[in-house]
Amino acid sequence: MYRTHLLNSMTEKDVGKDVVLSGWVHRRRDHGGIIFMDLRDRYGMTQIVSDPEKFKEAHDVLNESRSEFVLRIEGTVGKRPDGQENSNLETGKIEVLVKKAEILSSSEVPPFEIDQDKDLPEDLRLKFRYLDLRRQRMKNNIIKRSEVIKFIRDFLEKEDFLEIETPILIKGTPEGSREYIVPSRLHEGDFYVLPQSPQQLKQLLMVGGFDKYFQIARCFRDEDQRGDRQPEFTQLDLEMSFIEMEDIIDLNERLLKDLVKMFKPEKKVTDFVTLTYEEAMNLYGSDKPDLRFELPLSDISDIASECDFGVFKNTVEGGGVVKALNVSGGGEFPRSYVDSLEAIVKEQGAKGLAYMYLEDDGSFKSPISKFFKDDELKAIAERCGAKKGDLILFAADKWIKCCEFLGLLRLKIAEKLELMDENVFAFCWVTEFPLFEYDEDGGKLNAVHHPFTAPIKEHLELLDKEPEKVLSDAYDVVLNGCEVGGGSIRIHDQGLQAKIFKTLGISDEDAESRFGHILKAFGYGVPPHGGIAWGLDRLIMIFQNEPNIREVIPFPKDQQARDLMLGAPSEVPMETLNEVHIKADVKK
Ligand code: AMO
Ligand code: AMP
Repeated sequence: MYRTHLLNSMTEKDVGKDVVLSGWVHRRRDHGGIIFMDLRDRYGMTQIVSDPEKFKEAHDVLNESRSEFVLRIEGTVGKRPDGQENSNLETGKIEVLVKKAEILSSSEVPPFEIDQDKDLPEDLRLKFRYLDLRRQRMKNNIIKRSEVIKFIRDFLEKEDFLEIETPILIKGTPEGSREYIVPSRLHEGDFYVLPQSPQQLKQLLMVGGFDKYFQIARCFRDEDQRGDRQPEFTQLDLEMSFIEMEDIIDLNERLLKDLVKMFKPEKKVTDFVTLTYEEAMNLYGSDKPDLRFELPLSDISDIASECDFGVFKNTVEGGGVVKALNVSGGGEFPRSYVDSLEAIVKEQGAKGLAYMYLEDDGSFKSPISKFFKDDELKAIAERCGAKKGDLILFAADKWIKCCEFLGLLRLKIAEKLELMDENVFAFCWVTEFPLFEYDEDGGKLNAVHHPFTAPIKEHLELLDKEPEKVLSDAYDVVLNGCEVGGGSIRIHDQGLQAKIFKTLGISDEDAESRFGHILKAFGYGVPPHGGIAWGLDRLIMIFQNEPNIREVIPFPKDQQARDLMLGAPSEVPMETLNEVHIKADVKK
């Protein structure tokens, strides 16, 4: 037997008991011939102590043991002497006198210390991830991840959902990223595609009659890496039949609220707000607004169109807008800071950043105030709620650009002013996204969400004439400025689905070869349906207060999409390539 007790489990009540323990040597200290060690397992730590006089053999084994050796010991639980207790340990009142010890596995000197929470180079952590996983931070994250997933499973089971797996070797899934492909050995020249999400399969499950599906689904997207993106990540994916958007929103809100109550009870959760895409952009300059603070944008195009400042006037005349961001108390910001803000938006393509300081004497200090009449200045201040001591920033450009530039500055300024309350979880739904967006490079329309998303009913007529104006029945759920989930009500009509493919510039033949299965299935009785997918890694990242999703994924890829531990991607032998009919002429 390796253990009678786990290493967090012994208390004063166990004093006098004989126990068998196994674990890793966490820390060792020699005190005048006596050796003290903290033995560690997944659950916790227990201090063990040698007695060279009485149990010499056991002492010699401990003496030989170094950090990260795996030991099995037999011994007796004793009370620690007064003053030696450790209140940080669950087992801090006891220690185990070792009578017999055995080294189960020795360890080389680890490349970093397991018992310290120092910042380490991430490359090193990822290369030795199995050691990194022993550290408290990673251990907590992985345990929490498991608990969150179990909670979700239990919740959805109670709501009559079935957990159903879908295949990984499939055909293209249009979610907007590049796909990973897998060559087929049996079918020369053909490829499987890894799913960017189980989107089409879950819809086909609805056609198959399973009206409430969920899956903890692995998704694969070959896109540039960022803190909240991985090439392979996990969704809570769900789909329901005979429902409307409100049903999906209701279910998801209940689940999210329960999760927060369970795992983040200390957080103040604001009421879920619903904003249309247009409202979110207009007010907060983002389709994933951080609502822990206000700092809203205003539109001053009407006032700007009357003024004498050429840039503003001409922009509005040219069909653009002028938007303003009032920073309460921003009068304190030096010019150099405003210049740095201008540099930030210029990097994103802005032509400039105009500003006005509202002075204590009621005047507007700004190189452009001379182009405005007094009542125009007053109207601007009133529009954006500015008062003495504030700073107003302006962007003049196309609507979307103005929103994005000032939305970006809104976040930067909130960071500087520490407006993001760490104790708050601010959720919101963003709805009514445009169905299509114009792709300048490709000269055609793309689906904003994916091509299975339904247009809102009132806009069906616009599809032919002004497709760019069509809004969709899509929705995102946002937490503290992070898009944690997205979904939509789906098209369930064969004709409408075919029409959407056509609007996206997909020819009939192409639609048939890429999506023939779904068009065909839609000919056999389709329930109205819709669903959503959460970025589970992102949600757990926020729950664990981690800066990126790699911290909550046991074996993540690095920023260059490499697995540093396994050394993937890697070359494969020529014979393997031959078997799958691939000729490679890449020279390394
Ligand atoms: P979408 O593409 O919006 O929708 O993805 C859903 C959620 O998944 C998360 N996410 C990611 N997380 C980590 N790394 C990535 N590379 C990554 N990409 C996306 C985000 C996002 O909100 N099939 C649809 C869902 C549906 O319509 O039901 C879909 O996949 O949090
Ligand atoms: P200019 O007359 O071009 O020197 O610009 C005067 C001020 O307006 C400067 O502070 C510029 O940064 C700003 N500015 C110029 N173009 C824009 C624009 N498109 N939007 C907002 N501010 C601008």
